[in-house]
Amino acid sequence: MKILILGANGFIGNALTRKLLETTDNEVYGMDLSNNKLEHSIAHPRFHFVEGDVNISNEWIEYHIRKCDVIVPLVAIATPNVYVTDPLKVFQLDFESNLKVIKLVAKYHKRLIFPSTSETYGMCEDEKFNEYTSNLVLGPIHKCRWIYSASKQLLDRVIIAHAEKGDLTCTIFRPFNWVGSKLDSMEEAQLGNGRVITIFLYNLIHGKDIVLVNGGKQRRAFTYLDDGIDALVKIIEMDSTILNEKIFNIGSPDNDISIAKLADIMVDTYNEIMDEPYKGKITTKSEGEFYGKGYEDIPIRVPDITEARTKLLWEPKCDIHQSIKNTMTAYLIDEGYLTSES
Ligand code: UGA
Repeated sequence: MKILILGANGFIGNALTRKLLETTDNEVYGMDLSNNKLEHSIAHPRFHFVEGDVNISNEWIEYHIRKCDVIVPLVAIATPNVYVTDPLKVFQLDFESNLKVIKLVAKYHKRLIFPSTSETYGMCEDEKFNEYTSNLVLGPIHKCRWIYSASKQLLDRVIIAHAEKGDLTCTIFRPFNWVGSKLDSMEEAQLGNGRVITIFLYNLIHGKDIVLVNGGKQRRAFTYLDDGIDALVKIIEMDSTILNEKIFNIGSPDNDISIAKLADIMVDTYNEIMDEPYKGKITTKSEGEFYGKGYEDIPIRVPDITEARTKLLWEPKCDIHQSIKNTMTAYLIDEGYLTSES
């Protein structure tokens, strides 16, 4: 099979590329703005990478969509701070660029594997979010945090509509707070443009105070990257007709913790693996102070993974402590604070 990954150098893209090359016989075609996360894959004979921009490289993209069997468009801005500070940039890249790709996949009748998001469920009050029964609950328009969720939701609907018409086959997956190596850079985390685990890690390394937004009672089910990638490889390798129009939550319901608890575990883990203990303290700020007036938080987010368990025979394996420790260790090695032998 020939697989096209747009955004191959991203957090999910680099790990998926590596796993596909290591465990399958597929040819992988990749595009991204740079290749700094692809050191394990770049020289592989079945990996064909080109540096390019999805907004510009239209001919390359159309040619490769026509040539490949499966298209995985992973390009997106996925950091809440940017939803609030530059919502139009999020709309342009996450919605408009991906809509162009989806239309080409429909034109050539190919298989699309699309990254939706846990954020589509928004402030849904279900105990566990289900792909087929949960309502998608977003806040008011001036809360521009929801532009990411709304963009992804509309793309999910466009994709399913194309599949219903028979233009393409598709499988949609929804990552729930995946964490692991090469998530956000420490430079992004320093600017607040990371996810919570990378922002907290930056604070730990630099002795800065950790800030719990609204006191840190809100909860997330953190999912280790390797578990998520295993599910994705299963989706790619399985029969496209069986998985057509299916949506899968890919998350670890047992890893559901509060953000305050995350901070405690990260401080303990840091003090356990580093020679010098953390010098900062844990503080709190309101969401308005931390993100600005366009932000609104999501209190709970636990995936129902019955669909993935039964159709993919997939089960997340990495518990919360191990997921956090593995992520922190990978960063501390990459940043030169630890060696792989320590
Ligand atoms: C994330 C992002 O929108 C996407 O990466 C993604 O699609 C989705 O959720 C997902 O990974 O499932 P969220 O979980 O809100 O959204 O993003 P984080 O930045 O990781 O924040 C998690 C929680 O930590 C939020 O409640 C936030 O307010 C809090 N937080 C963040 C803090 O308390 N302190 C900080 O310094 C940063």
